[in-house]
Amino acid sequence: ETVDVSGQFLLPGAIDVHVHFREPGYTHKEDWRTGSAAAAMGGTTTVFEMPNTNPPTRSVRELRQKQEAAAKAHVDYGIYGLLAEDNIDELQGLIDGGVNAFKCFMGNTFGNLPSPSTGAMLEGFEIIAPSGLRISLHAETASIMAWRQKRLMEAGRNDPLAHIAARPAIVAAEAVGRAAELAEWTGARIHILHISSAAELRPLAEAKARGVEITGETCPCYLLLDSRDYARLGSIIRVNPPVRDASDSEAIWAALQSGVVDMIATDHAPHTVEEKTKDVIWQADCGFPGVETQMPLMLNEVSKGRITLEHYVTVSAEKPAKAFGLWPHKGRIEAGAEADIAVVDMHRTETIRAEALHSRGKITPFEGVSVTGIPVHTLVRGRFVQRDRQLVPETSGWGRQVTAIQAMPKPTIRNADQTLAACLQGPAGSAKGAGS
Ligand code: NCD
Ligand code: ZN
Ligand code: ZN
Repeated sequence: ETVDVSGQFLLPGAIDVHVHFREPGYTHKEDWRTGSAAAAMGGTTTVFEMPNTNPPTRSVRELRQKQEAAAKAHVDYGIYGLLAEDNIDELQGLIDGGVNAFKCFMGNTFGNLPSPSTGAMLEGFEIIAPSGLRISLHAETASIMAWRQKRLMEAGRNDPLAHIAARPAIVAAEAVGRAAELAEWTGARIHILHISSAAELRPLAEAKARGVEITGETCPCYLLLDSRDYARLGSIIRVNPPVRDASDSEAIWAALQSGVVDMIATDHAPHTVEEKTKDVIWQADCGFPGVETQMPLMLNEVSKGRITLEHYVTVSAEKPAKAFGLWPHKGRIEAGAEADIAVVDMHRTETIRAEALHSRGKITPFEGVSVTGIPVHTLVRGRFVQRDRQLVPETSGWGRQVTAIQAMPKPTIRNADQTLAACLQGPAGSAKGAGS
């Protein structure tokens, strides 16, 4: 079977290192079949799925459960393990059991997973560093947010802008700086999720300049929406961290162009329409679906001349592949790479409609937006999973878990003699357990 692709572009399929597919535990919001169908429709051929499911992916047991759920996927996937206060002793098992990366929630968000103390994070970084697996951070400092939210609620503030007031950019900047310090100390590779502010860019750029193994992503909402949109969209755009001012999105655009921000991910975070539309901002769930609209929205920016097609490929495929150990098999179209391809029609215009999304989350802040530049076919390892704007339903189950191929140089383990594990063993030659 052949398709006519004359006049169209072949791009490496997008690699989205930040999606929430909700299974197990919250399948009324999404599951692996619907989430991966949305990815296929959006030209995304590999996703990395987050551990804030129920149960969270905190040990090998839950990893196996997630792998079972993921077997339905239309596209390839990586699985995140959790790094939390109460599963430090499970981290090595998760590494040996085949997780592709770790996620650490420094601040509270959907799933209400408690944030680890800096002490627990440090030990977690020490354990994960030698594996070379990347640790992705929800970089918001819990203690600052808890205090501010308490004060805002006491004052009776429940309007959309109170959501920003509870999570000012200092919350994120402080967390990025602290995470970078821990990464520098341990040699762990880290990734900053959902960059939303100008304030985070300085600690990120400074850490890169010092040689810290750090990458950063932003999401279409932080590039394309700003605080003026709250009046129109209200709780629909409630997301952690919040959409901020136009000056923030300007700064993030510039950082994406310069390479300080490495990549685009979506933070695909589906919830039901009821869960999203509340009069009181504190009651609305945070996040919205994004994996199906990312490529059309960003190609529309290509059409407008805001980013080149070449640079879009760098930030949507090449850099995520390199950062998460998939390069050179994924993230490019060359002999020797897997045929993960989005065929895009840069002359086709569509209007985004929540009703038409393949996600179970039928609500989007981009409702009614007209976009030019559409992925019209998607291939995963040479097989059509989307064809002529139609999902190929029988490809449910074609997706498989990626393996990091360790093409990245081995990480330098810094301060290895001062890790908690080394300290617990005591000075060399000392009798074990000989205490005071
Ligand atoms: C995410 C979710 O719903 O799982 N929500 C969000 O607002 N971004 C969690 C997260 O990534 O913080
Ligand atoms: Zn997050
Ligand atoms: Zn997320």
